Amino acid sequence: MKRRFVPVLAAILMSAWVYAVPPGNEQEIVDRIKPFGSLCRAGDDCASAIAAAASGPLSGQAVYDQFCFACHAVGVGGAPLLGDIAQWEPRIAKGMDVLMASTVNGINAMPAKGTCMNCSDDELNDAVAYMLEQVQ
Ligand code: HEC
Repeated sequence: MKRRFVPVLAAILMSAWVYAVPPGNEQEIVDRIKPFGSLCRAGDDCASAIAAAASGPLSGQAVYDQFCFACHAVGVGGAPLLGDIAQWEPRIAKGMDVLMASTVNGINAMPAKGTCMNCSDDELNDAVAYMLEQVQ
């Protein structure tokens, strides 16, 4: 009787210990440890917003706001500042083809595609056009 009781007691204590560590019920714990980004499933409300954002191309301003601004808003590594005519004039003089080539391939401290690795050439082109529109 006693011999059987000890492992049962140990099992109860251990399971109590295991369940005592993370707060919440099992489903809450499973939800918490899901990999980032997997909480939206197709058909969920949250997923439709992601699908809408992923389906259409980003506007030039959206690309700038998400990627390019990180350097071009403050001049990281000598990046020409958004809207600064003195810094942009000599670059504009090179022509759009050259500016696009620099953007796609990178130039000096400017990384290829301005870090927007999923951007299409059209999206990058719109981003450059947006930046040039701000120059005055
Ligand atoms: C990590 C910083 C960084 C990011 C992010 C970045 N740039 Fe730049 N960019 C630079 C730097 C630095 C230069 C200046 C390079 C040079 O001429 O030495 C530059 C220059 C440029 C030029 C001028 C190129 C030329 O030939 O004179 C264009 C156009 C440009 N960036 C567009 C973009 C666009 C569009 C994005 C976003 C998709 C972007 N950049 C994101 C750092 C960045």
